Amino acid sequence: MTENTSSVTRNPELIFVGVAWPYASGPRHLGHAAGAYVPPDVFARYHRMTGNRVLMVSGSDMHGTPITVVADQRGVGPREVAEENHRGIADSFTRLGLSYDLYTTTLTPTHYRVTQAFFLRLHEQGYLFEDTTTAMYDPEARRFLPDRYVEGTCPHCGYPDARGDQCDNCGRTLDPTDLIDPRSKLSGATPETRQTTHFFLDLPKFQEPLLSWVEANRDRWRPAVSAFVLGWLREGLKPRAITRDIDWGVPIPLPGWEDKRIYVWFDAVIGYLSASVEWAERRGEPDAWKAWWEVGADGAAPGRAYYFIGKDNVPFHAIIWPAMLMGYGGLALPFDVPANEFLTIGGQKLSSSRAYTARLPFLPEALELFDADALRFFLTINAPEGRDTDFSWDEFQRRNNDELVATYGNAVHRLLSFARSRFDGRVPTPTEPSVADRAMLALAADAFASVGTQIEGVHLREGLRLTMGLAQALNRYLDDAAPWKTIKTDPARAATAVWTALQIVGALRVLTAPFLPFSAQRLHAYLGEEGDVHALPWAPREVPTGTQLVPPQPLFRKLEDEELEGLLARLGPTEAAATGEPT
Ligand code: MF3
Ligand code: ZN
Repeated sequence: MTENTSSVTRNPELIFVGVAWPYASGPRHLGHAAGAYVPPDVFARYHRMTGNRVLMVSGSDMHGTPITVVADQRGVGPREVAEENHRGIADSFTRLGLSYDLYTTTLTPTHYRVTQAFFLRLHEQGYLFEDTTTAMYDPEARRFLPDRYVEGTCPHCGYPDARGDQCDNCGRTLDPTDLIDPRSKLSGATPETRQTTHFFLDLPKFQEPLLSWVEANRDRWRPAVSAFVLGWLREGLKPRAITRDIDWGVPIPLPGWEDKRIYVWFDAVIGYLSASVEWAERRGEPDAWKAWWEVGADGAAPGRAYYFIGKDNVPFHAIIWPAMLMGYGGLALPFDVPANEFLTIGGQKLSSSRAYTARLPFLPEALELFDADALRFFLTINAPEGRDTDFSWDEFQRRNNDELVATYGNAVHRLLSFARSRFDGRVPTPTEPSVADRAMLALAADAFASVGTQIEGVHLREGLRLTMGLAQALNRYLDDAAPWKTIKTDPARAATAVWTALQIVGALRVLTAPFLPFSAQRLHAYLGEEGDVHALPWAPREVPTGTQLVPPQPLFRKLEDEELEGLLARLGPTEAAATGEPT
């Protein structure tokens, strides 16, 4: 293995990583992390290491009715509720190691300004129109009901608990007036219908351009995403109301509309743009966001924009946001929307408003109990890519103990400890490598291409599996080469084996860095290096002969039965009522 001076030199690509904006209505749980928050971090860290220019932004989604409902219950203002929850979410994200270039909120002056400008531009271009509609009004609670606060039977599939915005059974988006036997979620009363005027996004105008755009991209997208979007388009797009009778949200920038607000979903997706603008402003280079966003004169996107979301967010990211961008003009459309399926527990869905966090902790609890890398490892190796995936505590414990601790962690630890005790804490000088040594080095060198290909295709689960495969191979190599034995009979052979194994560990510290940033950083230090492991290029990195190794601590911690049992007793089933999603 050679020093990485030979690492690929090519023009950096511009990679935009948009991450779903968590509702600031309460803490997020492990299902959200597995679906939407950990994957983009792995992806962004990898791309930065390959030399690409990454912009990864998100923030807390601060508007919407659930926040006003919680605020009313607590007798405080919605801003206070949202800001408190935002601080909690941001803290969890930091502890989970999420490397946002900016994690902001939808309450910033920049967001309000960009949202209102976006609205006005769509209005000027003729993509918005006013219409008077019937809306649901709760006569007992005396307020207009957001879509999600009306429940009833789905007119498409007959599911009895469909919400007014979407049916969780068949996935179709709904209008509350579509529901059969509607009822108010606030009071249980049968809602009345009342007349109200709103702005509508004229989605039918985008039907044709969206269809050609989807057709051109569908083969690259996850099959479930393409199928869902095409199904929606085939049914024909209908105009969607983008304002609401509510006083918590971005004001509508037109006279006469003071008592209504922009719909939370409409402002939230604009957050991708406003957060990019805010990132640039904070750097003191107010135009810097344009590199990722502005299309060229030929209409070509400047780079690739990825949006990481859970599958319940597909309509807004793969249809409505692209339509808004087309209407605005001149801005890059999504390149991929690698939506994940749901993480389930005991077969029960976690990632929706009626979720039970049955025996699954919220992020603050989880991070108190487990190392961030242990969580990131399991949520990635068991990621709900392609299908709903069950979360099982037994599996979490087993994979942590067998794969992280007994395979990877143990191989690293016994090697580093041995090198310290028998080679004076220094990387030994190798002699002639054996066939097995060469094969091992080749395996590590090849892993950069194979793991990289998987990450580029957003197959993170497979990328991590291949990485752990190299750790397994290292473990077997150490068993076979057994330098602790050969050192007595053939010290030169032992030195070469230790040197070889250290090169593999040197590669693993790079390969694991996107997935397991904390342990990769510690390992980097044990290998005698200063600085940020994530600043290394995505390539083998030699651990040079003579390097002084730092006394290692075990990289990972075994999870004992008693620990897990204690935890399960503490985590009763809790209904995630306070974290319901807004409309
Ligand atoms: N707040 C929404 C959720 O947690 C996601 C919004 S993504 C955005 O499901 F792009 F619209 F912000
Ligand atoms: Zn349905």
